[in-house]
Amino acid sequence: MFSAIQPAPPDPILGLTDAFKADPNPKKVNLGVGVYKDENANTPILKSVKEAEKRILESLNTKAYLPISGSPDYGNRVLEMVFGLQPGSSGSERVRSLHCPGGTGALRVGAEFLKEFAPASKAWVSTPTWANHKGVLSAAGLEVGAYAYYNPSTYSLDYSELKDALAQIPRGDIVVLHVCCHNPTGVDPTPAQWDEIVGIAAQKGWVPYLDFAYQGFGGDVEGDRYPVSRFLESGIEFLVASSFSKNFGLYHDRTGALSLVAANQRDAEAAFSHLKKIVRVIYSNPPAHGGFIVEQILGDADLKAKWLEELSQMGDRIREMRQLLVKGLAAAGVERDFSFIEKQKGMFSFSGLSDAQVNYLRDNNGIYMVGGGRMNVAGISRKNVDYLCEAIAHALRKV
Ligand code: LMR
Repeated sequence: MFSAIQPAPPDPILGLTDAFKADPNPKKVNLGVGVYKDENANTPILKSVKEAEKRILESLNTKAYLPISGSPDYGNRVLEMVFGLQPGSSGSERVRSLHCPGGTGALRVGAEFLKEFAPASKAWVSTPTWANHKGVLSAAGLEVGAYAYYNPSTYSLDYSELKDALAQIPRGDIVVLHVCCHNPTGVDPTPAQWDEIVGIAAQKGWVPYLDFAYQGFGGDVEGDRYPVSRFLESGIEFLVASSFSKNFGLYHDRTGALSLVAANQRDAEAAFSHLKKIVRVIYSNPPAHGGFIVEQILGDADLKAKWLEELSQMGDRIREMRQLLVKGLAAAGVERDFSFIEKQKGMFSFSGLSDAQVNYLRDNNGIYMVGGGRMNVAGISRKNVDYLCEAIAHALRKV
């Protein structure tokens, strides 16, 4: 059987990390996968997370299975964080959350659910979108279409095209929307535009499937959940796949959640029971460690304050690197106006570099970016920014 199999191509994002590790260039720079890095190119464990882990190790006395949906406390923390709701408060009865292995795991569980209960529905993703969206949705058997989102010539949201596209999506279809820090463009709708998008969803009857992987990196934790709160208030049904990978730095602990919002408590319970059935046949129940960390931190006022401070420091460093990059490119003699990079939100800059320029930078300078020109701004530091800007200036002249 195996002898007939041809190797699959490397993953367009995670495959870059392997290529970067194998590159002998001492000046190499990894701007590929979306993980936070500090000034020394390390992805640190947050101090609040270390403290939470210490407490967990001291108090843990079993490694028995978690429930299929994860620990109930974790579900309550997701409710608080993602929806801004307290357990038992009005509106919370419509929401049920499931601890999933990362945001990707959550997206897949939700996609399996949608395929089972809306088998004829098509899923729509933005142009462009996260390189893995199509794969995750189609692996569950959903047909995937694309809606207009970004205008590469203005480096900004093409709002009128987006609105027109969303207004034409048939009732019952599924629309994947990035809640904040759009991946890969870093370009988000304004709050007023979100209000209109929620109105279109309510009027047209499509099902929002919100991808919320970067909460806290756009502005702050509360501000970034604005679209979720508006969808909740509208009374329509929707799903949210969220992640604690980035904002808690829990990348390898695979700590995400799938939440469903139904019309009422009965419907929420019924749908939730089927989500559990789906989980049971894929991975049975979630890994515990990352969830325990989130519970410890969000359940302790001091630790939570410490974590929020660390989260805002990560965001500040990325914003500072955006400024240094724009300044550095001008200083390196680049005439093109790159000031749009400072307006983008989150970890990524959709740089406007072509695939040929991205390949040139990788082959000649050991600078790794995702195809389409997405760079992880968190991979930039005071130490590598000049090298990066000189290399980009050179690539812009040559390619
Ligand atoms: C990214 O877009 O780089 C991250 O979300 C990591 C991933 O899984 O692709």
